Amino acid sequence: MDPLKICFLASEVAPFAKTGGLADVAQALPAHLLSQGHDVRVFMPLYGKIDSEAYEFTPVDFLHDVHLRMGDHTFVFSVFVGRAPGSDVDVYFIHCPQLYHGDHVYTGEWDEHLRFALLTRGAIECCQRMGWGPDIFHCNDWHTALVPIYLKTLYSWDQLFARTKTVLTIHNIAYQGVFPEEVITNLGLDEYRHLFFQADLEKGAISFMKTGILYADVITTVSKTYAREIQTDAYGMGLEGLLRQRAGTVIGIVNGVDYSQWSPQEDTLIPYNYGVDDVAEGKAKNKHHLIEATGLIYDEDAPLIGIVSRLTSQKGFDLTFEALPEALRYLNLRAIILGTGESGIEDHFHWLQRTFPQKVCFHRGYNNELAHLIEAAADIFLMPSRFEPCGLNQMYSLKYGTVPIVRKTGGLADTVEPFNAATGQGTGCVFEHYDRTGFAWALKTALTTYQDGPNWERLRQNGMEVDYSWDKQGAEYETLYRQLAG
Ligand code: ADP
Ligand code: GLC
Repeated sequence: MDPLKICFLASEVAPFAKTGGLADVAQALPAHLLSQGHDVRVFMPLYGKIDSEAYEFTPVDFLHDVHLRMGDHTFVFSVFVGRAPGSDVDVYFIHCPQLYHGDHVYTGEWDEHLRFALLTRGAIECCQRMGWGPDIFHCNDWHTALVPIYLKTLYSWDQLFARTKTVLTIHNIAYQGVFPEEVITNLGLDEYRHLFFQADLEKGAISFMKTGILYADVITTVSKTYAREIQTDAYGMGLEGLLRQRAGTVIGIVNGVDYSQWSPQEDTLIPYNYGVDDVAEGKAKNKHHLIEATGLIYDEDAPLIGIVSRLTSQKGFDLTFEALPEALRYLNLRAIILGTGESGIEDHFHWLQRTFPQKVCFHRGYNNELAHLIEAAADIFLMPSRFEPCGLNQMYSLKYGTVPIVRKTGGLADTVEPFNAATGQGTGCVFEHYDRTGFAWALKTALTTYQDGPNWERLRQNGMEVDYSWDKQGAEYETLYRQLAG
């Protein structure tokens, strides 16, 4: 079959810029598609903190000082192309210091809509100048969700895109890109106001995500359960009605894992590599190393609980606020927490560390190396999410033999099977309802199973044997692209 031309747009792509799982997916899925022979080109902004010299980016000579008028503003951008170390995927960086000078991926400043509209239009303009008509524009989250409306309006004259189809992947419906309706002018879409969601316009607002859902050829999201959940009032964050109208074109595809980055055998960021055969020794050594490095008291019998997360209400840590201190008070265990986010959650973890200084370490911040080390060292990983479109960390945990405690929602429900001691089947501890009793039960179950050697070994091994590689998961995207491209 002929290779497909896929233009992939994302606000964050690892290792260049990352705040969460989108960056991991935007790195790994294009790499998988390239390995299948497709022509994939990724577009992202050249944020101020990306070190273009260290990565040896090269300027694209015919994409230098491109002038783009958007409403009252004219932006001038240039394009660099580069590759992540060890990768063959071409990533095109839109260089526009006027909009991307700061270090942050997301700023929440007045020009946020322009920052991502420029990425979107910049990518389309680059395709034109490259004479490259993609079969698929793959947009991710609200930031690039305007591709479909732009193709139907400002760029509809261009035959280059006559056969192009659009896919919008929702990684998280909680972030919708809602702005005052006046920004329509700055987007250059004044003439096409009637195409925006009219009820929102009447309230003086527009939503990038909603506009994407209206006009993308297909909407995907990152797990099958989340695809169903977002069509319900409880999870749709106001978009459930629209998604139900498009139900036939809302598809769930579970994310994959890039095992070249995230596997205990190959991980270059952990001191001791290990596999299924030597998991007990391997994890014990990493645990010893991490516990000593964080200044906690090491005890080989004490299970280590790990958390690596954005600390937002999505992640459900309020459920741990009673059971975790209680367990730490009465049981011999340790906890290492890595994350940053909402002050209420950070304050709680600071308090936990102060209350149990020999047992708890809270590392406030973002630290990729420590994230890998926690996966390797911990016995149990907590992800009690309120909602979770897919979640990557529970899949990383499985591979590292770190038993996940998860709530049965979204991708957590799709990727972690409850352990059944009677049959020896299952990969984690799963609780259903969003309440503290449910979490307390799951924590107790995990800690009790930990004491039961053979069952724990079985549970850990089951998880390590599961395969969520992109080779498996990515095939669904290829099938979808093929169907769309006809
Ligand atoms: P989300 O995208 O909602 O944050 P995921 O589980 O899909 O959740 O992905 C989170 C990704 O971000 C993982 O690769 C995880 O290791 C990483 N991550 C989250 N918080 C931190 C942190 N504080 N330091 C380092 N990596 C982090
Ligand atoms: C979002 C979701 C997370 C998902 C990630 C990658 O940030 O919160 O569940 O794994 O995107 O798709």
